Amino acid sequence: MTTLLITGGAGFIGSNLVGMLAAAGQHRLVILDALTYAGNLQNLAGLIDSEHVVFVHGSITDADLLGKVFAEHSIDAVLHLAAESHVDRSIASAAPFVETNVTGTLRLLEAARAASVRRFVHVSTDEVYGTLGPDDAPFTEQTPLQPNSPYSASKAASDLLVRAFVHTYGMDCVTTRCSNNYGPYQFPEKLIPLMTLNALEGKSLPVYGDGRQVRDWLHVEDHCRGIMLALEHGRSGEVYNFGGYGERFNIDIVQRIIELTGADASLITHVTDRPGHDRRYAIDPRKASTELGWQPVHSVEQGLAETIAWYRSNATWCENVRSGAYLDYYAKHYGTSL
Ligand code: NAD
Ligand code: DAU
Repeated sequence: MTTLLITGGAGFIGSNLVGMLAAAGQHRLVILDALTYAGNLQNLAGLIDSEHVVFVHGSITDADLLGKVFAEHSIDAVLHLAAESHVDRSIASAAPFVETNVTGTLRLLEAARAASVRRFVHVSTDEVYGTLGPDDAPFTEQTPLQPNSPYSASKAASDLLVRAFVHTYGMDCVTTRCSNNYGPYQFPEKLIPLMTLNALEGKSLPVYGDGRQVRDWLHVEDHCRGIMLALEHGRSGEVYNFGGYGERFNIDIVQRIIELTGADASLITHVTDRPGHDRRYAIDPRKASTELGWQPVHSVEQGLAETIAWYRSNATWCENVRSGAYLDYYAKHYGTSL
């Protein structure tokens, strides 16, 4: 049985990935997470006490801790998801994004290299490619990097560090770039969970600008299957794009959420646009399909309906996140505070 280090495993995508890997039962899992506001141990309830899942609280910027984690747990491969992930927060304050996404990724690469891990999978984003016009072809792996926000610039920098470690040191690394994810456990600062919870609570739905920006929605389980395939079958030094053939205008997503929640359409409020707002993202995932055998299986229509049903039926999770009570879960679980 091999041991995987999963950084950011208490976040949205990381916790879905841990759940899928634990269910598959083929690996021992070591989760390293700093438990920032975006990390929620409740996402891992029932998993972190199992025999094959270990949780380590700490930051990827902590070189000493990383050295210990790699040595003590005999890590075979790394799935690197830890990041500051929210564009609006990066506009308000860019420094934490450089610290975690750039410096943290560098520290992790150094530690993984020192430990001679078999493979390092770097989970990145389509935002590194910049923005598309309405008639442009979707992003391929050859599209030049033209990041527009501090978040996407920090992710692009981390992608280039990964590339450099492959070329300079011969490290075995694969990079994945994915479009917008949605699904269970997503923190309600992102469009779909924010609009869903606000709609269910009768609060206003803040649509940036005209709402005619386009995102290419992919269900988180499809993304996680792609990461697992990249781990097993990706070629070192290569990049794989994942997208859901799911381009939608933001306003159409919000209107569908209104229909599915039974909320009043008058809750929609057009607010000041995000500075530097990328107009359109779209992914061409044919390389992942050809080389990894990957295909998205969730349609946006079905996946959105299931996701809204998940938020409806997980009221305690939602209340704990909305109130901030989720931040106390570590102390309750481990008997010591963070
Ligand atoms: P998230 O914000 O929900 O979770 C991030 C996790 O990383 C949290 O658990 C947080 O506590 C942890 N973390 C933050 N800083 C850390 C540090 N210094 N050390 C250790 N842990 C730290 O993010 P997400 O949406 O799950 O995204 C996961 C990854 O996937 C990110 O790298 C992101 O760039 C990428 N990605 C996200 C999407 C998306 O739509 N959400 C799409 C493509 C790529
Ligand atoms: O494309 C992949 C990226 O998708 C990931 O790399 C990021 O980590 C992830 O946060 C996401 O970035 P976006 O900026 O596209 O996601 P967000 O949910 O913040 O916004 C989606 C769209 O909805 C975007 O056009 C902005 C708009 N929006 C968002 C919020 C939070 C609104 O109109 N109103 C809102 O309140």
